[in-house]
Amino acid sequence: MENINIYECQKRYILPTYPEAELILVKGQGAYVRNDKGREYLDFTCGIGVCNLGHCHRKVTSEISAQATELMHVSNLFMTRKQPLLAKKIIDSSFSGRVFFANSGSEANEGMIKFARKWGNKRGRNKIITMNNSFHGRSLATLAATGKSIYRKGFKPKTQGFIEIPFNDFRAVKEAYYKSGKKIAAVLLEPIQGEGGVIPADNNYIGNLRKFCTDNDILLMLDEVQTGMGRTGEFFAYKHYNIEPDLMSMAKGLGNGFPIGAFAVNDSVENVLTPGTHASTFGGSPLACSAAIAVFDAIYEENLLSNTAKMGGVLMEELNKLKKVNSSIRAIRGKGLMVGIEFATDVKKIIYKAREEGLLLIPAGKNVIRFYPPLNVTAEELIDGLNIFKKIIKVL
Ligand SMILES: Cc1ncc(COP(=O)(O)O)c(C=O)c1O
Repeated sequence: MENINIYECQKRYILPTYPEAELILVKGQGAYVRNDKGREYLDFTCGIGVCNLGHCHRKVTSEISAQATELMHVSNLFMTRKQPLLAKKIIDSSFSGRVFFANSGSEANEGMIKFARKWGNKRGRNKIITMNNSFHGRSLATLAATGKSIYRKGFKPKTQGFIEIPFNDFRAVKEAYYKSGKKIAAVLLEPIQGEGGVIPADNNYIGNLRKFCTDNDILLMLDEVQTGMGRTGEFFAYKHYNIEPDLMSMAKGLGNGFPIGAFAVNDSVENVLTPGTHASTFGGSPLACSAAIAVFDAIYEENLLSNTAKMGGVLMEELNKLKKVNSSIRAIRGKGLMVGIEFATDVKKIIYKAREEGLLLIPAGKNVIRFYPPLNVTAEELIDGLNIFKKIIKVL
């Protein structure tokens, strides 16, 4: 190990699908990560909304460690103790329904799309309405559902069956429905578009959409991969809108860093996934489920939903003050600790400078910076991060 230059190794052996990153991170604890030279950074990216409990949360780490000595994986042809328990926790925190386990956001959405097609094909319609500017993953179907054609460049042919319309535009939903000859099986959207720039769906829009889907026997499918698991101050973001989805996907924060995804199907929807119709080798392994069970328990035991709402309020208030005195900030958006700051210009430089000053942030597109601190962030950590940010903005 000692004689290997890790930068050379990365360059030589890793397919270069990500932008080059000079930072080598070796250790994380709570809201902080450390690089290979011992420098500490305040991490307000949380692995893009994954490590919602902070790095190496004690409960998650100890549950994974204990489970790793008992049983790591068995085929889903056998039962384990952890998978049904986790499914119950998901349902107890959302709506009456059942769960399928996968390994990532893309895989959870892919399963949800397959569900909608099978359910729709039984009814003679299989088109799915999706939104401009959305993000649902990088598998071929989720890429086709994603409302950014740039991600599909070079990957023709596009998977068929998706009709893309503007987000937050209820009239466009009705138009697409009638234009398709009423051949719509489902509508798929993020309650708050994450990668698209932290853009929340409007209250009226979601209310109208829910009613339209119910009235026309269409499945309302929410992608809560980024918004779920407490990130917005509710366990799932749909709860801000006083509606229930028919299907919902989740991943990211579900395992706090251990890969796991899932989708839930409301009991009000006829189940079409019977034995042999869908599967995943690793989906819902005892190891992954033990991580996610610990995440659920920690969120409740540590009152993280109320901390998220409270700290989110502080963050919004401080950023709005900053907006008043800084004309380069165009808008502050989001809910809870899912916050986006839209700038008039490219944010690459700000993110780079923040890193130099010890604060890790992520962009969402060219003009938006995301603040995603852990849900257990303290007021002091939040203020420390904000102070670094303010210092950088001042010198813009
Ligand atoms: C809303 C949403 N859906 C799906 C995905 C894809 O998840 P994964 O990268 O785990 O496949 C993401 C990832 O950023 C996401 O934000």
